[in-house]
Amino acid sequence: MNERRGIVLAGGYGTRLYPITLGASKHLLPVYDKPMVYYPISVLMLAGIRKIAVISTPDDLAQYRRLLGDGNQWGLSFTFIEQAVPEGLSQAYVLAKEFLEGAPSALVLGDNLFYGHGLPEILRIANKRTSGGTIFACKVSNPEQFGVVSFDDKGRATAIVEKPPEPKSDYAVTGLYFLDGSAPERAKKIVPSQRGEYEITALLESYRAADKLAVELLGRGFAWLDMGTHGNLLDAGNFVRTLQLRQGTQIACLEEIAYNNGWLPESWPSDHGAFLKNSTYGQYVKSIMGIV
Ligand code: G1P
Repeated sequence: MNERRGIVLAGGYGTRLYPITLGASKHLLPVYDKPMVYYPISVLMLAGIRKIAVISTPDDLAQYRRLLGDGNQWGLSFTFIEQAVPEGLSQAYVLAKEFLEGAPSALVLGDNLFYGHGLPEILRIANKRTSGGTIFACKVSNPEQFGVVSFDDKGRATAIVEKPPEPKSDYAVTGLYFLDGSAPERAKKIVPSQRGEYEITALLESYRAADKLAVELLGRGFAWLDMGTHGNLLDAGNFVRTLQLRQGTQIACLEEIAYNNGWLPESWPSDHGAFLKNSTYGQYVKSIMGIV
């Protein structure tokens, strides 16, 4: 079976975070106690996806390799793909065409954090739709800063527009896209927008116009945060810290998700002694596994 594969887009220069990102890739920055990229990877894992491509700049890719390795420690397999010049999000599908081998995919942006009760269930439903696409929309106070989906009175999506000055709804399209195997071909046909980018919204529009796009609304019980500005980065860190301290459970602990999914290799955790020893994250992993 052609199982859905994951793509994490961790490219770009992170210019809104300068000067922090002059010396470090945005998606490796800490969000409280773990690197930012753990959060989107956790979403793919919760959807049941194990084959994942990480796309980043030629300069930064080595650091992602160092952090993530081949993925076996979480029962995953990572492929690393270079994006020489960031020219828009839909380019990810063109770059990942060979990796996907015609399979459906889930693309998640490396700076998006999703949290909420019932998220794994919603993701698994989207995973089962192998024809057409699924996007996730969330009500926000500043829709003009996102891709925006509008609806008719029957709740059907009528348009998806990138950063409209006058948004027709308050529903932002979040950075998580489940698309079928036709995405790379569709992405190739997209022409650059006025700002010169191959927009993800143009790709989504091609699905919507063909009546092939499901829109899942993430209700008020969900938190969707992007971490691309100084304030958002700090807010996301505080959000994670607050919840984790209060509940005693971790958000985006990749070992925990792999363990619950039954994906951990048999050699685990004997090879990871040093990693488990000193950090609160490591101590949490130990407690999950019942290691003393
Ligand atoms: C991108 C997309 C936009 C989407 C957003 C979600 O915008 O272009 O459609 O709503 O991610 O985070 P960016 O954050 O790259 O400006």
